[in-house]
Amino acid sequence: MKYVLVYWSRFGNGKRVVETLSVKLGKKGSEVKILDAKEFQGKVLPEADLYVFSAPAEKFTIPKDMRRLMKGLQGMEGKRYGLINTHSMKRDWLPKMDKFLSGKKMVKLAEVEFRMGDGTEDGKGLREGWKQKLDDFADKLTGG
Ligand SMILES: Cc1cc2nc3c(=O)[nH]c(=O)nc-3n(C[C@H](O)[C@H](O)[C@H](O)COP(=O)(O)O)c2cc1C
Repeated sequence: MKYVLVYWSRFGNGKRVVETLSVKLGKKGSEVKILDAKEFQGKVLPEADLYVFSAPAEKFTIPKDMRRLMKGLQGMEGKRYGLINTHSMKRDWLPKMDKFLSGKKMVKLAEVEFRMGDGTEDGKGLREGWKQKLDDFADKLTGG
């Protein structure tokens, strides 16, 4: 399996989630590519069997670079994907993230949100149990 993980992260919490996920997915003999949305300019992602998009909630939406990237994607028909959202307030922004992919005829396999705790701005905001949550997400992506 080939995976492409696209993320945007300010303080590194989301990046940590994506990097941890890449190790989990890579273990099953798969190829995993990580792309930073701050750097990726194109509209066509590298070919993969499955895509994961990870972004934080900021100012009641998702950061602009990530919004633009998700909205602008081309050639994603029938592609499978998963979503990751980190957020500090009660509400998660997974539905909003999904909207940016709507109309692309993609197939969602799983989604997961992480509510941040103390230490977020130092990249240490992930709460106890996050690894288990991520394991469950990875299982859904890979079919267990
Ligand atoms: C400028 C700014 C605005 C934010 N706005 C929100 C928000 O509207 N809702 C929310 O739940 N969290 C908000 N947060 C908290 C972020 O979701 C949190 O910093 C992020 O999930 C941490 O992930 P990261 O380390 O990958 O950036 C905000 C953070 C910043 C810096």
